[in-house]
Amino acid sequence: MSTGAPRLTLVLGDITEQDVDVVVNAANSSLLGGGGVDGAIHRRGGPRILEECRALRASRYGRGLPTGQAVATTAGELPARWVVHTVGPVYSREEDRSALLASCYRESLAVAANLGARTVAFPAISTGVYRWPLEDAARIAVEAVLNTDTTVDEVRFVLFDERAYEAFAARLG
Ligand code: APR
Repeated sequence: MSTGAPRLTLVLGDITEQDVDVVVNAANSSLLGGGGVDGAIHRRGGPRILEECRALRASRYGRGLPTGQAVATTAGELPARWVVHTVGPVYSREEDRSALLASCYRESLAVAANLGARTVAFPAISTGVYRWPLEDAARIAVEAVLNTDTTVDEVRFVLFDERAYEAFAARLG
């Protein structure tokens, strides 16, 4: 399979409706659900996702999924085949956590590529409850993905509102 930077596309919409191989979830370290994207994915994907998350907590991730790391489960009832859960950093003015946010994109792509995924949909990780400013999060996301050599063909940023869409569009030039 050929590797290289994936093709980047932007969609204004709901990530749970994307017909892709992998949908990335902006999870928290408990892996047991939440609001925002996390809530939407579990709501639409159904209980099998949470069952697999619980199994991960009972095995490899007894203390939860660390920030910046990624792990896959079934996508349950979603059109996608898998959900890759990743934990974004909470924004901080005092501490530069950019590397952790970039790691979410890189690690999620690595997990997706290992599954043989060719298309991966990302939300704007950390820009909701975790309060990361959209423009900076878009810069980090696009830079991390463009600098990743991967067998994934398409990375689709799925933005939930116009403001987020514009922030990412500005980075794609
Ligand atoms: N599809 C696409 N994007 C969405 C959707 C959706 N269905 N729902 C929300 N978003 C957008 C938000 O508008 C925001 O831009 O996803 C981005 C990330 O927001 P959050 O979901 O709040 O994620 P995050 O900021 O990473 O915070 C994670 O929130 O829901 C809890 O359990 C989760 O504790 C974790 C924290």
